[in-house]
Amino acid sequence: MERGCVVLLLVLLICSSVLALTSGVGLDFELTHVDAKGGRYTTTERARRAVDRSRRRLAASMSSTGHGDVRAPVQRAQGEYFTEYLIGDPPQRAEAIVDTGSNLVWTQCTDCLAAVADPCFEQHLPLYNYSASRSTKPVPCTDALCQANPYGHFCDRDGSCFGSGTIAGHLVTEVFAFQSGAADLAFGCVNASSIDPGSLVGTSGLIGLGRGRLSLVSQTGAGKFSYCLTPYDSDGKAASHLFVGASANLAGESPVVSIKFVKYPTDPPYNGVYFLPLVGLTVGETKLPIPSSLSISGRMAPCLARGDVKKKAPRLVLHFSGRADMALPPVNYWMRVDNFTACMAIDRSNNRMSTIGNFQQQNMHLLYDLDQGQLSFQLATCSKL
Ligand SMILES: *[C@@H]1O[C@H](CO)[C@@H](O)[C@H](O)[C@H]1NC(C)=O
Ligand SMILES: *[C@@H]1O[C@H](CO)[C@@H](O)[C@H](O)[C@H]1NC(C)=O
Ligand SMILES: *[C@@H]1O[C@H](CO)[C@@H](O)[C@H](O)[C@H]1NC(C)=O
Repeated sequence: MERGCVVLLLVLLICSSVLALTSGVGLDFELTHVDAKGGRYTTTERARRAVDRSRRRLAASMSSTGHGDVRAPVQRAQGEYFTEYLIGDPPQRAEAIVDTGSNLVWTQCTDCLAAVADPCFEQHLPLYNYSASRSTKPVPCTDALCQANPYGHFCDRDGSCFGSGTIAGHLVTEVFAFQSGAADLAFGCVNASSIDPGSLVGTSGLIGLGRGRLSLVSQTGAGKFSYCLTPYDSDGKAASHLFVGASANLAGESPVVSIKFVKYPTDPPYNGVYFLPLVGLTVGETKLPIPSSLSISGRMAPCLARGDVKKKAPRLVLHFSGRADMALPPVNYWMRVDNFTACMAIDRSNNRMSTIGNFQQQNMHLLYDLDQGQLSFQLATCSKL
């Protein structure tokens, strides 16, 4: 990594080496914004909820950085998008937050009901019951997949793989069916959790898209994935999409920009996370070097009359090494807070690292090409993909 350059963390803020994904086949997921489900929120409530989730994510990542030494596991808090899938034979319904920053697929299992300490959090759908599935298989603790478990690995008395951290449970394999496509995956069948009960907003678990061996992308050998998030302001009416494998492609007229990923850390909590080499920012007409610009947003969130956002908002361009620029459309950094006002949706970073959050990624199709080691993106109308 170049000196003085700041890395950007990309957050959406989701089997004994079985490769069930035949080449050329892709998995498609429909993503729903967490505020689009259940009760309808007013614009002001949604803005407040988004800021609150974002601050909690930041707090969770800060609390894990003791004395500048980033070691403790990050508690993945406050997801933004979830997807529905089917698991087992016969299939059972489950929902998961999709997270590009984590490395495991997991869901809560019926053993939660028997847990004494740290029982599971509440979820909308029934718990996954492996006793009712013909296709479930334990992963032996001698398996390489067990050793790759980001939550640690232990041998249970019966030789099965057990892991324990902020969540605890067994690693097992199952058949997963998504909106389009199916795969055999090893995943955490969780029976205890100390995760903040609200953080998964009633879903049953997580789908990790990180680089780690047990993420959905690694297990399927997909090599690439892409997603496109519909505008936050569309009230979640149009679903967003995630494509894993062959169906992950950029298309259309809009220019494509590519940025090489930065060499990634191999230690927790940032192992498996995607980093980009941010070298500068342009705000309005001023080009700011990094890292002195990290405090630009400070604590004042500037606000504008909504109608003025397109005319008056200073332009914001993120510059990456390799002369790659990401010019953000104003709606991707000005959040509507009521019918008349929009405020800047950029908050202070906690350390040398900044995050491109999902608000910044609206109506942008982002392709994570792991084989090429780069992120490519183009502006897109995500509801039309
Ligand atoms: C799980 O499935 C088994 C087998 O069908 C059934 O006997 C058991 O009651 C189920 N457990 C729960 C909690 O639903
Ligand atoms: C459930 O979790 C506990 C630890 O919290 C573990 O000792 C136990 O074996 C687990 N049970 C199952 C069936 O996974
Ligand atoms: C905001 O606008 C919507 C749609 O035009 C309207 O239904 C709502 O009552 C307005 N809210 C306020 C607080 O003015």
